[in-house]
Amino acid sequence: MIGCMRLIVDADPGIDDALAFYYLKAQADTEIVAIGTVHGNVPVRQATVNALRLAERLGIDAPVAMGAARPLAQPLKTAEDVHGADGLGGFAGDEPTRVHTAGESAAEQIARLARANPGELSLLAIGPLTNVALAVQIEPELPRLLDRTVVMGGALGVPGNITSHAEANFWHDPEAADLVLDAGFEDLTIVGLDVTMASHAPGEWLEALPESGYPRQILGFYADFYGSFLGKAGFVPHDPLAAAILVDPELATYVEDRFAIELTGTYTRGKLVADQRFLAEGSPFGRDIGTGRSTARYAVSADNARFLDRLRDAVTQP
Ligand code: BDR
Ligand code: CA
Repeated sequence: MIGCMRLIVDADPGIDDALAFYYLKAQADTEIVAIGTVHGNVPVRQATVNALRLAERLGIDAPVAMGAARPLAQPLKTAEDVHGADGLGGFAGDEPTRVHTAGESAAEQIARLARANPGELSLLAIGPLTNVALAVQIEPELPRLLDRTVVMGGALGVPGNITSHAEANFWHDPEAADLVLDAGFEDLTIVGLDVTMASHAPGEWLEALPESGYPRQILGFYADFYGSFLGKAGFVPHDPLAAAILVDPELATYVEDRFAIELTGTYTRGKLVADQRFLAEGSPFGRDIGTGRSTARYAVSADNARFLDRLRDAVTQP
């Protein structure tokens, strides 16, 4: 990478969100300039306090703006069964000394920073896309003002993790996710379950982490959930993989397509869908999904060994 990547992180911390912050903090030439929080794994107030705690713990000197408390068009549902009642596996710890930004929402923060720094900031969204969708409403030019945008969400060719078909971040706010996919982002990468499930960190990886370290502590609850969900020891580092792919796009391979979110399906609401005719090279058929949408890249494979080594280095840094 040439120069320093400056980024806004939009998150719902969240145990794997916490690991994404560790990952980013450990990268040379990567600077988190602002953090936004969103409902998802926990209610947004809890996500905000957790983001402040993590920023403090990791020495990330970026403002934290509180974002959307609920999805655009459905009731709030959270995922304490995966992340614990406090969102950090029971180890959230003391109240932070810092407070979130007064008088500016996470969406307003994204829009303001993007306008002030055209082409200079990238965005990593590792929670439901409510804030990003609202930021596009505030600033329709957002997709052209940002440099790169990487989103963790979706399950294209694999089962969902919150319903049979849908991945959690997109399912938590399907309308917001669809709005983002339709907003014309010039450089959009989607990191979904097709790659994150395959990046599973086995039990031995976890056990090799220092026992008294914070990452190991918070991962206990998350690993218990994934252990019973998958029937094998370990956990799935969804959000840190998205962070890693943002920092080093060559860590993954991609298909390029037009994407939409199923908004009305009886069993499939919240599912990411691609124009499968677009995927079939030379297809004589017309485009039936996302006509008029710009394309995005969807990650289909990743170098998991390299990623897990980098993640271990990031979470074991002094
Ligand atoms: C996504 O949902 C949340 O549980 C995780 O933090 C991650 O962002 C994975 O589907
Ligand atoms: Ca998350």
